[in-house]
Parts: sequence; C-alpha cells; structure tokens
Amino acid sequence: MSEPSWWRDAAVYEIYVPSFADSNGDGWGDLPGVVERLPYLEALGVDVLWLTPIHPSPFADHGYDVADYLAVNPRFGTPADVDRLVEAAARRAIRVLLDLVPNHTSDQHPWFEDARRGRDAQHRDYYVWRDARPDGRPPNNWVSAFGGPAWTLDEPSGQFYLHLFAPQQPDLNWAEPRVAAEFDAILRFWLERGIAGFRVDVAHSMAKHPELLDNPRLDPPPKPPGGRPGRPREWDFFEHRHDLSQAEGLEIHRRWRRLAETHDALLLGEVNLREPQPLGRYASAGGLHAVFAFPMAETSWEPAAVIALVRELATASRHLVWAHASHDRSRPVTRFGGGATGRRRALTLATLTVGLPRAPLLYQGEELGLDDADIARQDAQDPLARLTPGAFARDVVRSPMPWTTGPNLGFTSAAAAWMPFGARDALDTAAAQEDDPASPLRRHRALLAARRALTDLRRGEGPDWLGVAPPLVGYRRGDCVVAANLGTEPAQVPLPPGQWTAVFSTADAPGRVLAAEQAAIFTRA
Ligand code: GLC
Repeated sequence: MSEPSWWRDAAVYEIYVPSFADSNGDGWGDLPGVVERLPYLEALGVDVLWLTPIHPSPFADHGYDVADYLAVNPRFGTPADVDRLVEAAARRAIRVLLDLVPNHTSDQHPWFEDARRGRDAQHRDYYVWRDARPDGRPPNNWVSAFGGPAWTLDEPSGQFYLHLFAPQQPDLNWAEPRVAAEFDAILRFWLERGIAGFRVDVAHSMAKHPELLDNPRLDPPPKPPGGRPGRPREWDFFEHRHDLSQAEGLEIHRRWRRLAETHDALLLGEVNLREPQPLGRYASAGGLHAVFAFPMAETSWEPAAVIALVRELATASRHLVWAHASHDRSRPVTRFGGGATGRRRALTLATLTVGLPRAPLLYQGEELGLDDADIARQDAQDPLARLTPGAFARDVVRSPMPWTTGPNLGFTSAAAAWMPFGARDALDTAAAQEDDPASPLRRHRALLAARRALTDLRRGEGPDWLGVAPPLVGYRRGDCVVAANLGTEPAQVPLPPGQWTAVFSTADAPGRVLAAEQAAIFTRA
C-alpha cells in the first residue's frame, strides 16, 4: 500500500465553507469565495484544503446531514464551481478534499424517505431498524452524541431507527452491501472530478455490533487525557464498546483505500476517541492514510498533562494530523485563557507539534489567533446545544472570517451574514494582521515556511524526545530540534552537541533560552 507522494510534506487547512468567504452577497460563504481567497491560502503556506460538507442539506447539523452526495448545495455553488476551485487551487499546488459523511444521511435523503415508507421498502435495510424492547423501551441503551436516546420511533411502521447524532441524521446500515456499493460510486464520482481525497466524518462509527448489544455504563466517566474542560455529557458515561470501533469498520476503510490509491488520493479520518492509543489502528497500512489528533483540540492549559498527551499521541501513530482546533471545539486561544495569553500559548503549542509526523492542520481563523466568538446561547443554531442543555454551542467557532475592517468585516456584501460575527475587532482581521510582523497571521505563516524549508522537520528520523522534564519539552528530527517551554520561568534548551541556530521563534527573542510559554525551532548550522 502506498500513499500519495504529495502527502509527505503537506500542511492542511480546514475551511468551514458557510463562514469562509461570500462571493455573491447572499450572506453565505461559497466555493467562488474560496477561489478568491486562494492567494491568501497560498501565502499562508498550506497545501491541502479540507472543505466541510458542500452538498444539499436541510442543515439540521450544518451540512453534516447530507441529502444528496453527488450534488452541490446551490448556496455554495455548482459542480462547475467545484471544478473551477480544483483547477485554480492546482495552479497554486493546492489540493482539495471533500468531507465524506458516511455514518448517516439526512432524514430528507431519498434513501431514507423511501426507507420510511414501510418494512418492505426498497431502501429499508439501508438504515438500522429495530422493534422496541418488550416493555416498549428503545431497542438498546445507546445514546446520541448530541443527547437523548440514539433511537427514534417511526410510528407508521412501529419500529425505531438508529441515529448516533440528531434524529434528522439516521445512521446507515453498513452491514448492507448496497450501502457500500453506493459509497464506492460516490467516492469515484468526486475522485474522477479531481478531488484529492476525503476527510471521513466519524470514521470510527460506521460499523455497529451485529447484535446491537447494550454499552457498558461508566460511572463516574473517566477524565479525558489532557484535562478537557467542561461537564461530561451523557455520551461520556458509556464505554462505546458496541456502537464504535468495530473491526468491520476497518474493512470499509481498506476498501476505500484501494479505491483512493487508483486516484493518488488521500483519506483523513475523524476518529474521535477518548484515548490516543487506538488511533494507531486506524491510520495503518491498508486503512486510512492519517487520522486527526483531536484530543489536542480539547485540552486545557495544564503543561504537564499537555506534554504527556503530545508524547502519547506521537507514540500512538506516525500518521496524525495535528489539529488544535476544528469547527466542533472551543478554539485554543479561548481554552488557554483568552487574549494575549491565549494567543501566546496557542502559537507555542502549534509550534511544538509542527514537526511531528505527519502533518499540521489549521482551522480557519486559527492563524488569526481568533478566540471563540461572542454569540448568545439563545442565538445558537447547533443541534448539540439544542438537544443537550448546557453543552458547548459550536456556533461560537463557526462565525464568519474577519477579513477586513470594512462592513461585515469583508466577509459579505449582504446586509447580514448567515450567522453573527460575535464581537470581532480590527486587530482580529486578516488585513490588519498582514501589516504586523508579530501578528498571529504573520507568525503562523513564518512557522509553516520554516517547516517547508526544513526537510528534516517533515521527513527526518525521530522524533527523539529531549531528556528534559515538564514544563520544558522538545524533540529532535534529524538536524532539527523543536522545543517549547510551557512554564512560567525562562528555561534553557539542552541542544545536542554542535552549532544550532533558531530559525523560528514564537517571540521576538530567538535563542536557546526560552522565555515563559515560548517555543522555537533550531537547526544545525
Ligand atoms: C463530526 C463533525 C460534526 C458533526 C458530526 C456528525 O463530528 O465534525 O460537525 O456534527 O460529525 O456528522
């Protein structure tokens, strides 16, 4: 099994399409808007764009409820706009990934609309249907990741259908061979159009235990690694032994890998597990090319715990995409204390992981050091927030990009954007940051440029961890060393013998003594 040669050195950028750039003044980000911003993305130094779902969708889960996998939501553009984006990006050596949502469809997908017609419907077995337990309760004790039971009663047929997310997102039945065949055709359709691969949504959850056994209850729920903030959800009170991580799921990935390889394409998996260790199983020969290191996107700023987590993740797999942020999680600047403190810490952690195998990821706005937008809970559209009172409302990390200080921050010429901006100021905008060499934008650009310039940081042996104790941490890859001081006192990096120079630093004073919460990259002269 091979991997695309272009993947070896790539840096990834996640575009939350509805909120990236609006080209036609309807208040929604769109594909031509992405084309217009390609110079910005090229200058930033990213090679792969992951677009969140672009397909027709009733938007019950912001597009992760797909009603037609082979079409483009007119809000975002047309299939021809996809072609134009792929071509324009290719001219800048940038590749485009789509978001594949194979665990569930929208309840308005024609397959589900047919499946609902009755027990004998042609597409009935595309979904997971069961009778109630004898006492009338749902078929088993599984809960939805968004809150409440994972089952909804379909009254006309008297059966429940399974949904690990919102009731409008019925789970597909991957034990049904016709479902696998449909998805082969979906993958082929986009790969033949020049899409470079897919980010696979909840890649660990497609296959379910054939007998749909109850999940064991965990009380109290285990503390997640890295010190994740917030109250545990109902979902956290279960060991997901029978609804997630079934061996059959890996078979699906292998099938797709064979397909991807015929197109030199990439499969990046969202594998959202509490513990780092099983990640290695997913990003392995024959399966997905890489998986996101999402535990990093959930940590709070606890230096020793964060260092332990980074090391544990790096040991679990050499095929990780180091994501510190996403459209699902509180932004690092906010998690790390907000303001200048949060921005300093976020850049320091991004630097620490930039040289770890395999690739860094930036989520739109992370390069601007954005914090979570100030959006009132009553304005939240996120189904998670509606179904679980008190849960994190993901709207705050999905607000439109602040491009300029002009009206609507340069995002749209419409009177209003599709969702509130949430109190951004002039210094948050890309335009203002362009002029300041110490801005988050310019530093992230310099960070990715340093990675691009240093072959060993991308391909060298290692990481070999330096023999230092928290709050200092560092590793060597070939002729490069990356070190971070997560503590509150200056600390000296014990560089290996030889002449070393700092080629990137998160602060203005590069040198082997790192100030509090500073990170740097060194190379051997
Ligand atoms: C993934 C997506 C998230 C979505 C969920 C259900 O976790 O990133 O936004 O709500 O899957 O599709």
